[in-house]
Amino acid sequence: MDLQVYPTICGDCIQILQNDAVMNELIGKQQIGLCLIDPPYANMMSKKKTGADAYIHGDVATPFTNEAADLGNMERSEFLETLKKSVELMLAYMKTEGYVVVFIKDLQPHKKETNLLHSEVVNKLNEIPKLYYKGMKIWADESAKIYPYGYPFSFVANQVHQYILVFRKEKR
Ligand SMILES: C[S@@+](CC[C@H](N)C(=O)[O-])C[C@H]1O[C@@H](n2cnc3c(N)ncnc32)[C@H](O)[C@@H]1O
Repeated sequence: MDLQVYPTICGDCIQILQNDAVMNELIGKQQIGLCLIDPPYANMMSKKKTGADAYIHGDVATPFTNEAADLGNMERSEFLETLKKSVELMLAYMKTEGYVVVFIKDLQPHKKETNLLHSEVVNKLNEIPKLYYKGMKIWADESAKIYPYGYPFSFVANQVHQYILVFRKEKR
């Protein structure tokens, strides 16, 4: 297959997308047809582990980085707003009828918080003008380890799936 080799760049996506010179160097006059985003699942990794997770993995937090700009170190509302901002900035470089695909996982419910993160991401990104949620695929991660979380005290679901959310940029 004759695939073109593209350069990669490492840094805060907001800063990169706001830097015209860097974006010009990366893509020139080309428009993006598909943007695939695999963000941290809000601040799941930067929280100290509790319960069965702490028993299995140790009660330490495992953030991706210690940077404030790391989406994985943000509280939920800031995470959602920053993710939205990054997609809005990216959309300027994107083809009409191009697709934005987001990998995301739900968090465990807590008290009255349902923590259906995939649904919050759908609603937040759907606020962006010209971007429309089109549906999802479920990725059943067969490598995910299953534990008897909660047993024998209460039901705690294992999450062996992730959501692949599909959005499309349209004319208006
Ligand atoms: C779930 S991991 C994705 C891993 C990736 N799919 C891979 O296979 O290597 C989330 C990644 O998002 C990165 N990240 C977090 N905040 C970011 C930001 N503001 N800009 C760019 N990347 C960010 C984290 O450092 C982490 O590498």
